[in-house]
Amino acid sequence: MAYAQGAAGPVRILAIESSCDEAAAAVIEDGHRILSSVVASQIAIHRAYGGVVPEVASRQHLRTLLPVVEQALREASIGWDAIDAVAATYGPGLAGSLLVGLSAAKGLAYARRKPLLGINHLEGHIYANWLDVEGEVEPPPFPALCLVVSGGHTDLVLMRGHGQFDRLGRTVDDAAGEAYDKVARLLGLGFPGGPAIDRAAREHGPAGIQLPRAWLPGTWNFSFSGLKTAVLHLTREAQPPSVSEIAAAFQEAVVDVLVTKTVRATEEYDARVILLAGGVAANSALRREFARRATTPVCVPPPQYCTDNAAMIGAAAYFRYIAGERSDFTLDVRPGLSLAS
Ligand code: KG4
Ligand code: ZN
Repeated sequence: MAYAQGAAGPVRILAIESSCDEAAAAVIEDGHRILSSVVASQIAIHRAYGGVVPEVASRQHLRTLLPVVEQALREASIGWDAIDAVAATYGPGLAGSLLVGLSAAKGLAYARRKPLLGINHLEGHIYANWLDVEGEVEPPPFPALCLVVSGGHTDLVLMRGHGQFDRLGRTVDDAAGEAYDKVARLLGLGFPGGPAIDRAAREHGPAGIQLPRAWLPGTWNFSFSGLKTAVLHLTREAQPPSVSEIAAAFQEAVVDVLVTKTVRATEEYDARVILLAGGVAANSALRREFARRATTPVCVPPPQYCTDNAAMIGAAAYFRYIAGERSDFTLDVRPGLSLAS
C-alpha cells in the first residue's frame, strides 16, 4: 500500500462540509480510511421551492451542523485527543452556508487547540477517489485527468500531483448539474433534477430523437445552455415527445460531450487515469459510457461520495496536512473560489 504514514502513527482529521444544502461531518484517517461520515440533507426542505434557497440553507445549517459533528465523532468512537486537525470547506459555494461550517471549524479548532485547514470544495470532490469504501484501494496514479461535474461546476482538470491542478476547460454557461436541474424543472420531474432524469432516461432506454451537442472545437470547454433551450422548444411542439424520451435524449447529449472530451484530453495529456467527481458523477449513464469508451482506467466514487459529503474534505485535507500546510484563523469564505486557473 502506497499511502504515506508518519512515525507518530495515523493522522485523523475531523472534516466539515456545508457549502450548499448538505451539513456534513466526517472523521478520516490517513486520507483514505472513513471512520465516520454523516450527511444531513436538506432536500426535503428545498423541494417545496423547486431549488436551494440560500437563506433557508444557512439557517438550517445553524441548527444541524454541531449535532452532525457530534454524531461523526461518536460514530468514529474517538475523542478529541485522537483528532490531529479540523478541516472545513471555505469555497466555492453559498456564502452564508460556507460561513456556518468554517466558523464552526474555527471555533472547534481554537477551543481544542488543533490546527485548521481550509479546503477547496472542488478539490474535495476529486479526493473522494482516494476514499476506501469497500476495502482498501490503491491510490490513483498521476497525472490524472479529472472531470468535476457538480451543480455549480463543470471543470476538466489535469492533476499532476497532490495539490497540483491545471484547469484545461470549464463550462462557459450552465454547469452540467445545473442543466439537469433546469431541464427536470421544464419537464415537471421535480428537484433535484439529476437523479429524476437519470431514472426517467433509464426506464425509457435509447432515445429516438437527437438533441444538439456543443463541441466548442479547439477548446476543452463545455456549454449546456443551448441544449436546455432545445429541450424547451421540444416541449412547446404541437405534439411533443414523451417526457421520458426527452429526458433520455437530453442525457445522451450531455454524456456524449462529457465522455468524448474527457477521453480526448486524457489521450492528449497522457494521463494514466480518469477521475470522475461531483454530484453528476453519480449518473448511471455517465458511469456506463466512461467504462465503455475510456482507454485508461476510470475511478468513480460510489454515488453517496459523489454528491456533497465531508469524507472527501477529510481526504483532501490529509494530503495538505502532511505537506505541512495550515490555515490561518483569519481565513475567510471564498464563494467564487476556483480550483486552478
Ligand atoms: O456535487 P453536488 O452534490 O453539489 C454541488 O457541489 O453542486 O452536485 C449536485 C448536482 C445537482 O445538480 C444534481 O442534480 C446532480 O448533482 N446529480 C445528478 C445525479 N445525482 C446528483 N445528476 C445526474 N445524475 C444523477 N444521478
Ligand atoms: Zn459539491
